[in-house]
Amino acid sequence: MELKVLESNKIDEEVANEIVTLIKEKPNCVLGLATGSTPLGVYANLVKKYENKEVSFKNVRSFNLDEYVGLKHDNDQSYFYFMHHNLFDHIDINPNNVHVPDGINYENCLKTYDNEIKKAGGIDLQILGIGSNGHIAFNEPGTDFDSFIHLVDLKESTIKDNSRFFSSIEEVPTRAITMGLRSIMQAKRIILIAKGKNKNHAIKALFDEHGIDETLPVSVLKLHPNVEIYCDKDAAEGVIDE
Ligand code: F6R
Repeated sequence: MELKVLESNKIDEEVANEIVTLIKEKPNCVLGLATGSTPLGVYANLVKKYENKEVSFKNVRSFNLDEYVGLKHDNDQSYFYFMHHNLFDHIDINPNNVHVPDGINYENCLKTYDNEIKKAGGIDLQILGIGSNGHIAFNEPGTDFDSFIHLVDLKESTIKDNSRFFSSIEEVPTRAITMGLRSIMQAKRIILIAKGKNKNHAIKALFDEHGIDETLPVSVLKLHPNVEIYCDKDAAEGVIDE
């Protein structure tokens, strides 16, 4: 795992540049995309680059990590809505090429999602955020490293963290559908971004004292050969990268 500590806006620029470089090398590449506050700056940079005609997403395929169970596409808290509002509606990606796990008809999605990724040739570059409890996608502590797409009961800490996007904590869905840890580990390359003090505990555990086990889902990334971790100073404080 390679650790890069940068200012938050530099992270956004560098990660967007990495994505654009990949699209230029492989115009029909497969991107694995995350939601939440962390990748917002990356998506804003991508939209700018598209508007400046630096890149076209015409042949890009994408797979999102997760979705809340029970939220329809037009609910502004759904990850389907988030992706369209923050990225897809502003670039020339083909709507048939974007995939967000279905939080309503999830039974069918559970059967098909990993196969769709496989049929697309696998994920070339997976973008990840991290939860304060070390989750990646919605793989909460205790998730099997061998998991593929599955339903999950969100932990209290995740519900609390995500309540900042809702008008009250009661409105936060308690279940989600998420790509599994095995699904994520099959990506050819992974970039994880961590920003802010509330990610410091998990990032420190990842680099310092914690071994590789299911109590810290992000620790599975230590078994992947091609991972870059971008942190701002707050997230990386006290981390010793050897
Ligand atoms: C979202 C996702 C989650 C978030 C994590 C951090 O698709 O996979 O793992 O990356 O919960 O969320 P933020 O970025 O809002 O701090």
